Amino acid sequence: MQILFVASEVGPWSKTGGLGDVAGALPRALAERGNEVVVVTPRHGSIDPRAAGLQPVRTALHVRGEPVALWVKRGPAPVYFVEHPHLFGSRRGLYGDGGRDHPDNAERFAFLTRAALALPGALGLRPRILHLNDWQCGLGPWLLRHEHARDPALAGARTVFTIHNLAYQGLFPKQVLPALGLPWEVFRYEAMEFFDQLSFMKAGLAFADALTTVSPTYAREILTPEGGASLDALLRHRARDLHGILNGIDVHAWDPARDPHLPAHFTPGELAGKAACKAALQREVGLPARPDVPLVGLVTRLAEQKGIDLVAAALPALLARDVQVVLLGSGDAAYEEAFARAARERPDRVAARIGFDEGLAHRIEAGADLFLMPSRFEPCGLNQMYSLRYGTVPVVRAVGGLADTVEDFDGFTRGTGFRFSEYTPQALLTATRRALDVFRDRRAWRGLVERGMAEDNSWERSAARYEALYRTLAP
Ligand code: ADP
Ligand code: GLC
Repeated sequence: MQILFVASEVGPWSKTGGLGDVAGALPRALAERGNEVVVVTPRHGSIDPRAAGLQPVRTALHVRGEPVALWVKRGPAPVYFVEHPHLFGSRRGLYGDGGRDHPDNAERFAFLTRAALALPGALGLRPRILHLNDWQCGLGPWLLRHEHARDPALAGARTVFTIHNLAYQGLFPKQVLPALGLPWEVFRYEAMEFFDQLSFMKAGLAFADALTTVSPTYAREILTPEGGASLDALLRHRARDLHGILNGIDVHAWDPARDPHLPAHFTPGELAGKAACKAALQREVGLPARPDVPLVGLVTRLAEQKGIDLVAAALPALLARDVQVVLLGSGDAAYEEAFARAARERPDRVAARIGFDEGLAHRIEAGADLFLMPSRFEPCGLNQMYSLRYGTVPVVRAVGGLADTVEDFDGFTRGTGFRFSEYTPQALLTATRRALDVFRDRRAWRGLVERGMAEDNSWERSAARYEALYRTLAP
């Protein structure tokens, strides 16, 4: 089946979070199953075409009369990079700079979506499925119906819209409608209007043929007023078309046996390399290189979603024990400052690296003993699955995909991590202390590590589920 997959970030070329990981891996998993998948994404300013090995594509692609240049990275699932010097090429941040969104994001991602819809006609493709991801692609289903109704390349094409995070909705003042080339009739409650603003997310939810989100538990949570970010009524209305399909992980990019970012390698049967990774990580971030002390890792966007306020509040009590904490993250300035301060105050116990560093993210996954994800909500979460594969025991709040992927340790021979429910620093602390107690019991800990490493979270099963969904839409 031909599938056109559209995403605003695609790893490893561009990534701010899990969407980049998913858009990098799922298309390849679908291609491995025999589908013809083409990916479309912007050529962000951070992507150097030469260094990335992109080739220019000769085509007559137009968006609203304007010619658009394209690059391609060939492979099992070719990735097309849409060029626009002003909207994409000259920006540093993908969605904003210095904590502020780019003011023209509506125009930027409407442009991406229109370019993606024009691509099949320009390249002679006949996709049966347009798989659109997050608010950035939310206009896709409506544009397909209204601007491509007679496009032979898209005749009969159906749309799948995947919610990676309902909290980011793509809200804009209604005054942008004319500049986007959208008629005022879309500004209705049943369409794209949301509390007197234009909502790209709502556009996707209202008009796509099928909706998916990235874990079964999150698919249930977003139907409730607590989890629905004011879109739960619409989601309940569309509940029959909504599917929770758990993300997988790229087991080639995240493989402790050959990860090029690591100083040493390991397997479930041979964990000496993990101890070497821990010592190297302690040296790298300037913590005392002690093998016996439990090392707690975090790799995260420093955003409210991630429960960083709980970590900050629990940290002093946590540090009363003999532990080390290493955090890699960037985001809210207040949290960045709080962790930088904690590291200054307790350099023997806390290391904080503020910024985005793919290599260090891998080395923390490999070198830490425990990994904290106390998220307020978590559509899926990938780091807990990377942690399991790297023998690093996750401590998670049991929400969304965290609840679907981490089983609580029963004190004997079952479970892969530690879970808690209440959103309080005390509950996080209790779960972490429970983990620290088990850490001292080498046999029990070894069992936890081995069970986690034996989990199969590869894309295979989930890619099959997407494929089955595509087939129900476009038999
Ligand atoms: P989200 O998409 O909500 O941020 P996920 O757990 O799905 O959460 O994915 C986060 C991805 O981004 C993971 O691959 C993680 O390693 C990566 N990541 C997050 N913050 C950083 C950072 N500061 N440096 C490097 N990688 C990061
Ligand atoms: C979002 C979610 C995260 C999910 C990722 C990929 O960024 O916050 O939970 O894993 O998308 O689907």
